This record gives sequence, structure tokens and C-alpha cells, in this order.
Amino acid sequence: MYEDLLPHTLPTEAERLDQMAHAHDPDTFSTINRLNLPAKANCLDIGAGRGSVAIWLAETFPDAKVIASDLDVSSVKENALSNLSVKEIDLRSDELGSDLYDLIHCRSVLCFLPTRTEVLSKILQALKPGGAFVATEMDFGRIASGPSRFWATFWTAYLEFAAAQGWELGFGGTLPRLLVKTGYTEVDARHIQPILNMSGQTAGSAEAETWSLTLATLAPQLIGGGFMSKAMLSEALSIIRNPEAWTAGPGFMVTSARRPVT
Ligand SMILES: C[S@@+](CC[C@H](N)C(=O)[O-])C[C@H]1O[C@@H](n2cnc3c(N)ncnc32)[C@H](O)[C@@H]1O
Repeated sequence: MYEDLLPHTLPTEAERLDQMAHAHDPDTFSTINRLNLPAKANCLDIGAGRGSVAIWLAETFPDAKVIASDLDVSSVKENALSNLSVKEIDLRSDELGSDLYDLIHCRSVLCFLPTRTEVLSKILQALKPGGAFVATEMDFGRIASGPSRFWATFWTAYLEFAAAQGWELGFGGTLPRLLVKTGYTEVDARHIQPILNMSGQTAGSAEAETWSLTLATLAPQLIGGGFMSKAMLSEALSIIRNPEAWTAGPGFMVTSARRPVT
């Protein structure tokens, strides 16, 4: 399970989640900004991690009510925002309620949950009619085409490891169609394939740092589980950590949609 492999108690986890937020917050914020949320919006961030999106929502919409939720809320950054609350929610077992939210956001969460389609149904139910869902989920679909045979082979091995954990890292690519099928409206999607380059303070650098930390943390399972050799993982890490390399990393799909008003 995700929380067994990447628990918040790991010494490097806060740093990994901060790098992830640095890499993806700009795309998340611009997607939410396009939605014309009501000033007094009720917002729920699920699997909030460090809470960067929930904190930005509470700051940007001071009359909104925002909940940062996670299986483990201990990592949510300290803040003095009176319109932000923190709530422990396990998406596998907890109910989200009905007709409550103007916005539900999640990023890199559903792909890790074996019951992701059931969780999607709970999200649809928890949104008010006309409420918006914004999700950034991994979309590895295009990685296998390049940029080198080694790179494709490495990520294919990583995908096999992920599948063995019940993770579906192509879920971002299937989400838009699934949302249409489920009855969502105004489904909009953007595929993002960050270029990994570990120099400067850029989003690409933060993405490279995130993968560097993720792969180093998962090394015992990747190698011990027989998914790849130590040499293969070292070579991939040396590409990711090379400040002169500009290498396309795994993709993400940023999707927004609304609960239909019936
Ligand atoms: C990859 S992190 C993403 C964090 C944050 N959304 C971000 O993008 O910065 C995945 C998050 O999902 C949370 N998570 C994993 N399984 C969960 C579950 N069953 N219910 C709620 N949250 C869960 C983890 O604790 C972690 O904070």
C-alpha cells in the first residue's frame, strides 16, 4: 500500500512532497483559476500532503472554507489561516458526504488507490450540482516512446513495480473519458510532460528532485522485488540528477470537470 512504501514519517518525505508541490502548483493554480469559483466556495483537498493547494485556496479566496484532508494529516504545513481546517480522511473507507463542495481537488492520489473508481463516485456525490473537480494524476502512457531505449526500459520496469502495488500510473490518461462516462460536464484536460533538469529553482528541477527522492526511497523494493538491477536504478538516477541533462519525465494529466446540474 502507498502509506507503507511512502509514509509521512520518512525523514525525506516532507522534502519530497514540497518538491512535488513546487513542480505542480503553478499548473494546479491556473486550472483552478479558470473555474470561476464562488467567493464563499466550500473546498476539499483530498490526499493533501503538505497542503500547498489547500493553503493557496484559503489565501486566494479569504471568504471560502477549505479543508485539507489526508490519510495522515501530520505533514500539513503550519499556518494561521482561519478559513482552513484539517481533517483525517481515508478515501478507501470514509464517506465524503453529499452535495457539500464547490471544489474537490486531488493530485497524485487516485492512481495509488485500488478502489479509485469507487472513490470517484464518492467525489461526484460530495460535489454540489455544478461543483468542480480538479485532478492531476499520472499519465505514463507516452514515456515508453523515448527519449532513449534505456529510458523506456527503465520506466517500463517502474510501471511493472507500480502495477504489483495496485497503482495505476496510466490513470490520468483514462480519467477524462471516465469522467464523461460518469456524467461529468465541461471535462477539460491537459497532458503535461515535465522536462527533468536538476539546475536552478525551476519546476523541472523540482520534478527531478521529486523523482530522485522517490526512486531512492523505493530502491529496496525496486531492486529487492526483482523489478530492476541496482545498475539500472543507478543509471536512471544519474540521468535524473545530471544538471546538464534535459530529459522528459513521466507525464501527468491535469483534468477539470463539473458535476452536472440536473
Ligand atoms: C503523492 S502524495 C500527493 C500529495 C499532494 N496531493 C501533492 O500533490 O502535493 C499522495 C498523498 O495521498 C495520500 N493518500 C494515500 N492514500 C490515501 C488514502 N487512502 N486516503 C487519503 N489520502 C491518501 C498520502 O498520504 C499523500 O499525502
